[in-house]
Amino acid sequence: MSLATEHIAFNIEKIRKDFPILKREINGYPLVYLDNAATSQTPQQVIDVIVDYYSNYNANIHRGVHSLSQEATEKYEQARISLQKHFNAKKPYEIIFTSGTTHGINLIASGFASILKEGDEILVSALEHHSNIVPWQMLCEKTGAVLKVIPMNEDGSLIYSAFEEMISEKTKIVFLNHVSNALGTINPIKDIIEKAHSHGAAVLIDGAQAAPHIKADVQALDVDFYVVSAHKMCGPTGVGILYGKEEWLKKLPPYQGGGEMIASVSFEKTTYADLPHKFEAGTPNICGGIAFGAAVDYMNSIGFEKIAAYEQELLEYATAKLLEIEGMKIYGNSKEKTAVISFNIAGLHPYDIGTLLDKMGIAVRTGHHCAQPIMDFYKIPGTVRASFSFYNTREEIDRFIEGVKKAKMMLS
Ligand code: ALA
Repeated sequence: MSLATEHIAFNIEKIRKDFPILKREINGYPLVYLDNAATSQTPQQVIDVIVDYYSNYNANIHRGVHSLSQEATEKYEQARISLQKHFNAKKPYEIIFTSGTTHGINLIASGFASILKEGDEILVSALEHHSNIVPWQMLCEKTGAVLKVIPMNEDGSLIYSAFEEMISEKTKIVFLNHVSNALGTINPIKDIIEKAHSHGAAVLIDGAQAAPHIKADVQALDVDFYVVSAHKMCGPTGVGILYGKEEWLKKLPPYQGGGEMIASVSFEKTTYADLPHKFEAGTPNICGGIAFGAAVDYMNSIGFEKIAAYEQELLEYATAKLLEIEGMKIYGNSKEKTAVISFNIAGLHPYDIGTLLDKMGIAVRTGHHCAQPIMDFYKIPGTVRASFSFYNTREEIDRFIEGVKKAKMMLS
């Protein structure tokens, strides 16, 4: 254990006990779970909240005078407040529950259809996940707006000077991820937001990959929209939030029509509900929302600074060990990155490496990681991606490195 790790008051054994799945065996080996960027694991504290909901107060919210409905409503709104506090939103109603990051992005892209005109420009980064590319392409088709791409460097960082040249009074919205899912690059979002605002453009940040590692303060960032998913941060799948500045959320039209989002309905005219309900049509993922609040509380009980410092240690350790392997190429070496390593070994297909690792109980993701433009940039079909979380250990990294060496031997 290095000095830096010793200084982190981080009881890894105690933390690991919170995650029942980490006791699993896969193909006869203890599980080494290194696919955290796809889905993080769920601690018992969050599982208990889910079981408690279905065992004790499962009911629809904002609708019933009966006790169960009121209890569920109260817990759901408490979760909204936990999330408001975590992201430091000014008002609880600036937190809109969604089914995840993709839903949040589509909600905003669809809203901008009523704002954009032909010839307006929208800027996207070269580092985006497909979910932050396709909705904007669809929007451009609908409105005649033009999509422009901020290019990237070989090390996986954005070319900031290109962004400065591209932004103009024609730019209406800039969107990019806080952290790249494929490479782990941390983007300079504060500078980008400031610059975009100086040209009157709004900014949407996809925080899906940042939220498990970095506590974003939406007021300090002065960001217009910030979207995340619960399942990357110890919560369940199928739920997330969209943070939006009140003035923007008031300006944008509703995304979906239905129950819950209305003030009054008649065949002549319908009026919409106030925030946040205007954007929350239909019965939401009530249990998911409550569990998301519990997940964020759990992560805060450990502390994001400790989590980030510990994960950086794991990243440095694993990077150094991997680079000892002949033929190893790591994609994404920007100075600021989270604990994600995307790599290939000369002459081997990532899919084969991933399959052999699974046979040894080690879970990684292989392929283009829903970021084909990044793979095109490097002229590769895909990579093997190992993504670490605060419940991973050095011993697990040793097993992973041994696994990669063994896979290489078997495939060469
Ligand atoms: N977006 C998720 C990932 O990067 C699924 O794996």
